[in-house]
Amino acid sequence: MLSGKTVLLGVTGSIAAYKAASLASALKKQQADVHVLMTKNAANFIHPLTFESLTGNKCISDTFDRQFEYQVNHISLAKRADLLLVAPASANIIAKFAHGLADDMLTTTALACRCPKILSPAMNTRMFENPLVQENLQTLRTHQWTVVEPAEGHLACGDTGAGKMPEPETLLQYALQAIACQKDMQGLKVLVTAGATQEPLDPVRYLTNHSSGKMGYALARQASLRGAEVTLVTGKTSLPPVPFVDRIPVVTAEEMWEAVTARQAQQDILVKAAAVADYRPQTVSKEKIKKSEDTLSLSFVRNPDILQYLGQHRLPGQYICGFAMETEHVLERARQKLLRKGADMIVANSLRQEGAGFETDTNQVTILTKEKEISLPLLSKAETASRIWDAILQERKK
Ligand code: PMT
Repeated sequence: MLSGKTVLLGVTGSIAAYKAASLASALKKQQADVHVLMTKNAANFIHPLTFESLTGNKCISDTFDRQFEYQVNHISLAKRADLLLVAPASANIIAKFAHGLADDMLTTTALACRCPKILSPAMNTRMFENPLVQENLQTLRTHQWTVVEPAEGHLACGDTGAGKMPEPETLLQYALQAIACQKDMQGLKVLVTAGATQEPLDPVRYLTNHSSGKMGYALARQASLRGAEVTLVTGKTSLPPVPFVDRIPVVTAEEMWEAVTARQAQQDILVKAAAVADYRPQTVSKEKIKKSEDTLSLSFVRNPDILQYLGQHRLPGQYICGFAMETEHVLERARQKLLRKGADMIVANSLRQEGAGFETDTNQVTILTKEKEISLPLLSKAETASRIWDAILQERKK
């Protein structure tokens, strides 16, 4: 996801410097060109050779080092950088950044960088909580630095509290969020529903479907990477949470309806990718359910139709997209769904097609609007999601 991007990884003097090696490796696995800039103190915790082996680039600490195969100095590195990520960031480097000091390669480069800048403070809790450190961090925030909150836990000094550098995977997500995609959805608020709902039949059993949530989660992830503010209303899934997305877990169709309608007014775009049962068992007293083990004798009532509600209660400028999962007459039924629900777009997928629909990591969809029909090839759900957002943004411009 970071192919063609140059990431400058600043490493400073903290015991957490050992974790920076995994971070450098994770960035490299995303195809980033990684250049590590170390402070002198950092070299007491980890050897530059570790980073050079992992990144294939010279690890730089001395501003006046001239032992380079090609011309690298703080200005040329700063000009090439797509991201400056400083992890771990000591109290000392935070103070230097906040006051514009420039006495080594990392600080001079940071001053010259115009790209997004992220720092991950790592230090003893008492140092982290010191008002001077907090003031410096606040100064940096006002100068557009993203400050990653340190994790809490047992620290190397024996204390327990805030100050741990988060795991490299968490910091990688910050890097991806900052630069993996163009921010063409910045300023948009979107709500996506994902996964399957469950309707309890009795205290033991429930009615559900095979939706894994992968399609909806991919939509949420792509929108967030493209800069949107995303709310994900999700039925039960085994998927990990989507980073930087507001996740609202629900169980039943009614709960999903309540979660969506309560938030509808704030959204620019709503996409219903969840698979929801049309009916639920009529509420019966717990007493009665316990006695009656015969679920077939239950009577059913209709669940609220989320997509239709959104189509009928659309606010000015709001865009509504639904999905249609069909086994036959896919496009014909999807087109009927578009009209019946009053949606702007229906994304049709067929359960009969290999690699499409439930549970797979791929999908093959046709995007339908009143005027258009765009057939996409079999793609990963991430790529499919990205193409769906492209289509929605295109349609919203009209
Ligand atoms: O979550 P994933 O595993 O990634 O799968 C993705 C997805 C296939 C769930 C997603 O791409 C998708 O198509 N989501 C919307 C599915 C859909 O049409 O949901 P819905 O809530 O609008 O409708 C479910 C419909 O299935 C109901 O209207 C019901 O009548 C119908 N149904 C149910 C059972 C059945 N045997 N036949 C049906 O037609």
